[in-house]
Amino acid sequence: MNDLELHIITLQNNIFSGLFVGQNLITINKVDSTNNYLKDLLSNSKPVSEGTVIMAESQYAGRGQQQNRWHSEDGKNLTFSILLKPIFLPVTQQFDLTRAVSLGIINALEPHLGAQLKIKWPNDIYFENGKLGGILIENIVQGNQIKNSVVGIGLNINQDTFPADVPNAVSLKQILRKDYDLKLLLSDICKNIEAAYLNLKAGRLEFVRNAYLERLYWLNEHKMFKAGGRIFEGLIKEVKDNGLLTVFDGDVTSEYNQKEIEFLNK
Ligand code: BTN
Repeated sequence: MNDLELHIITLQNNIFSGLFVGQNLITINKVDSTNNYLKDLLSNSKPVSEGTVIMAESQYAGRGQQQNRWHSEDGKNLTFSILLKPIFLPVTQQFDLTRAVSLGIINALEPHLGAQLKIKWPNDIYFENGKLGGILIENIVQGNQIKNSVVGIGLNINQDTFPADVPNAVSLKQILRKDYDLKLLLSDICKNIEAAYLNLKAGRLEFVRNAYLERLYWLNEHKMFKAGGRIFEGLIKEVKDNGLLTVFDGDVTSEYNQKEIEFLNK
C-alpha cells in the first residue's frame, strides 16, 4: 500500500439514491484540496466516471473563489468535489452550470432552512446575512465544449465557531442548534444537484434560470455596492445569461463581472 492509499476509503454506496452523482464516492482523511485531487485523478488515471464524488474530512489547502483560501474545521463540515461532464453545454453557457449546482444545494437545504436561504451572486449560499457555503467550479474546456467540470463545494455544517477573519460565516448547527450527519446531507445534496443538472441537460434552461433568480440574495432591494472605486446605492435587476450581474444605480443599469463589484453589507 502506498502513502496515498493509506488515506483513502472508497465506500460501497447505498445511501445515495441518485442515478450517478455520488455512486462512486471516495472519502479521504486529509488532502490539499478535493478539487486538486479530482483534477489529478482526471489527468493521471483511467477514465473517471461522471458523478464521482471526492469528499475530504480535512483539507490543508482548500481553495475558494478569487484565490482565497477555504477554511473548514477538520471533520465538522462538508468539503467535496463532484465530477460532471457537461459536454452538451457550450462554454459560453457555463454560468448555467453554476446556476444548476447552486439550485441543487438550495433545494437540498430548503427543508431545513426555508425561504431565508439565498444564493448570493454568483454562487455563495447564504442564510440571512451569513455565508453557509461556497462553490468553486473549475472547467476543463476543449474547443467550445466543457469536457470536464470539477465542482467543488464547501458547506459549513457542524462547526461551532469561526475565526475572526471570516466574520460572516455561519453553520447549519449555529442556525438550528443541532448536529447533522454529514454523509446523509451529502447524499441529499448529490441527489438534488443531479436533478438540477438533468434539467439543464434536458434543455430546461428557462426553468433553471428563473429558479436561480427567484433565490437571488438582494434581488430588487436597495443596497450599497462598490464598483470602480465608487460607493453607491443600487438595485440588482437580473443576472444575464452569461452570468453578468446587472445593477441599477438610480440612473443607469450596468453589468458587472465578479471582480468588478462588491456587495457592502452596511
Ligand atoms: C468560495 O470561495 O466561496 C468557494 C469555496 C469552495 C470550497 C470548496 S471545499 C471543496 C472544494 N475543494 C476546494 O479546495 N475548494 C472547494
